[in-house]
Amino acid sequence: MLVTMQSLLAEAKKGRYAVGGFNCATLENIRAAVAAAEALDAPVILEYAEAHEQWIPLAEIGPIMLDYARRARVPVAVHLDHGTTYARFVEAIRLGFTSVMVDASALPFDENVARTQEIVKLAHSVGVTVEAELGHVFNSSIGAAKGAVADAEEEHEDLDAIYTDPALAKAFVEQTQVDCLAIAFGTVHGVYLSEPKLDLPRVARIRDAVGIPLVMHGGSGVKPEDYRTAIQNGICKINYYTYVNQDGGEAVRRHVENGGDRVFFDAVSAVATEAMQKHYEEAIALFRARD
Ligand code: 13P
Repeated sequence: MLVTMQSLLAEAKKGRYAVGGFNCATLENIRAAVAAAEALDAPVILEYAEAHEQWIPLAEIGPIMLDYARRARVPVAVHLDHGTTYARFVEAIRLGFTSVMVDASALPFDENVARTQEIVKLAHSVGVTVEAELGHVFNSSIGAAKGAVADAEEEHEDLDAIYTDPALAKAFVEQTQVDCLAIAFGTVHGVYLSEPKLDLPRVARIRDAVGIPLVMHGGSGVKPEDYRTAIQNGICKINYYTYVNQDGGEAVRRHVENGGDRVFFDAVSAVATEAMQKHYEEAIALFRARD
């Protein structure tokens, strides 16, 4: 069933678990994510990032995401990830998306606030949830969105200037009235080229300052124990894509290498879906694990 992201995250915050925000650039992602959520009787968030325009337009895949969400046996929110243009927010909301993310964290604080306020006014007027971002989430040179400038923790001397500041986060949330906040604490979009070193105490300080659900971007590739602590410290949504996408690709590679003389595309789609469903199930189980 299609639900607002706000309702999913309120439950997650109360229950101290996180909901997977799974990016959908293909039908295989959608089928695998919904099947995994149904298998574990867990809620899920299907996301479309603007960067996925290189694979499929929002106008084509958006209605399919919504159709799967409406027919699912579990609660599903459908979310625009990393939205930048006003037209795109309107497009997603008109399609029926129940949530949008304003990606304005590269702008100075006041401009991020102003941009976010504009989208909050639009989205809240029709009951759509808003996520915004404060701080800078790193981008890997492998697997991050097309056009993202690659960087890593080692390249920055002053991490305090990059990671989300709790006091600023409090002011940001008060001024914008966003429903959830994506924060920077050492995660990386794309493939981790060195062991992730996360500032997990910072997550708890931000939670205590803002009081709303927090979002982890660059969520795939993190150690299981780090998910646990991040969730205990206030993360309620984990954006997760690169490593499941890679697993689907590796399953296809094995299928092609072991498949004999001919490769048929329907079988390729099926093996990728199966591998990704398994991966999503493991991720969902980790995000809901109890100590
Ligand atoms: P990963 O692809 O690194 O898992 O990050 C996904 C993400 O943050 C999408 O917004």
